[in-house]
Amino acid sequence: MILTQEEEAMLRGDEGEAAKLAMEILVKVGEKFGAKRLVLVASAHIVLAMYKSIFDAGVEVCEKFAAMGARFRVPTTLDPSGMDTQKWREFKTPDAYAEKQLRVAKAYEQMGAIMSWTCLPHFTGSAPRFGEHVGWTESSAVAFINSVLGARSNRETAVLDVCIGITGRTPEYGLHLQENRYGKALVKMEIGGRMLQTWEYPVLGYFLGKTLGSEIGVVEGLVGSPKMDELKSMLAAAAATGPLAMVHLVGITPEARTRAEAFGPNHLERTVTVTEETLKTTRAEMCTVKSAKIDLVALGCPHYSIAEIQNVIKLLAGRKVAANTELWIYTTKQVRDLADRMGIMAELLGLGGKIATETCMLISPVETWGFKTLMTDSGKCSYYAPVQCKTDVIFGSAAECVEAAVNGRVVAPQQAKSRLPGDPEGGRA
Ligand code: F3S
Repeated sequence: MILTQEEEAMLRGDEGEAAKLAMEILVKVGEKFGAKRLVLVASAHIVLAMYKSIFDAGVEVCEKFAAMGARFRVPTTLDPSGMDTQKWREFKTPDAYAEKQLRVAKAYEQMGAIMSWTCLPHFTGSAPRFGEHVGWTESSAVAFINSVLGARSNRETAVLDVCIGITGRTPEYGLHLQENRYGKALVKMEIGGRMLQTWEYPVLGYFLGKTLGSEIGVVEGLVGSPKMDELKSMLAAAAATGPLAMVHLVGITPEARTRAEAFGPNHLERTVTVTEETLKTTRAEMCTVKSAKIDLVALGCPHYSIAEIQNVIKLLAGRKVAANTELWIYTTKQVRDLADRMGIMAELLGLGGKIATETCMLISPVETWGFKTLMTDSGKCSYYAPVQCKTDVIFGSAAECVEAAVNGRVVAPQQAKSRLPGDPEGGRA
């Protein structure tokens, strides 16, 4: 790899032991992927953050970098913590587990991280601009910034993400290069020219991830103007069920104003069709049981926005969560503070719901609480929950999830509709 003078100096150790080690790792990875050089990044985002998935070895890596005097050279944000950062005792987090998570937090504080603890740094003040190179992990965020914002990042990996933050650089290969950003497969929406409903976005994402894998698809025929929350949910599911890092959404992705622009010089290699049957079959795959008593309704993967929390309050319509069921919403600290200021937090608590902050159902020790069946409106959560939370899972719209929370069991969609005539999502199953 060709390195600049500054990079050579880091590699020699002129800028400290931590920068030297980080540079050595980046160069090795760059060589493995055939990168000719490193590219400067505007920011880094780190998944080496939650104890549940980094284990003791991950804690030691963070502490080792901190002890070596590492400081982040570019704004570096953190993925969610392995527990609610403030109310971890209330969420029954085991002490030994919490102690490890707190050590991770301390190490990153020392290194100058932005203690964001969210998978949505792009929704909380750290959004990259069009064409900007960044070095992010967190598959859902990478898929979003490539596909919706037109920023450039590969799906970086844990440890490498720390090295990127320390050096402000990443190997230039994959999606950092224009020639690798063009589409190869056409995905045609053939659902009678109708708009997708909110709950169908994660279903479509689930299908796209499974079907496209790492191949860049070009989705044509999305009708209307999807909300940011819908795209967020769709791309998180797509990046969960496959190694997808970018998909062109014609008319939405800045590099895909037209189908021709999305494909660029590439030839169309294959065409995939999405029909009503595709959506129906995929939705069925997202559930491990057909109908059941629900122990936990978990919303907020990716972290819920204030609008999504408002929707839950509206759907609850003053009704309480059933006695043997929990309704937990995961979100950022900013959104929780907003919910607090708006009185939504108190209202939700009064109805038996809870808001967990800066963590989520998949990376906190949910499996220790003995839940058997979890219901969610998240495609990503429905994919991972059986393994990560050790539960059966049922996917449903936000309206169906709220009905399940109130009734303690899955309610037939028609019933949900009749109970909530004014709800924009009610009964859309
Ligand atoms: Fe975010 Fe946790 Fe889902 S990190 S995307 S809420 S798995």
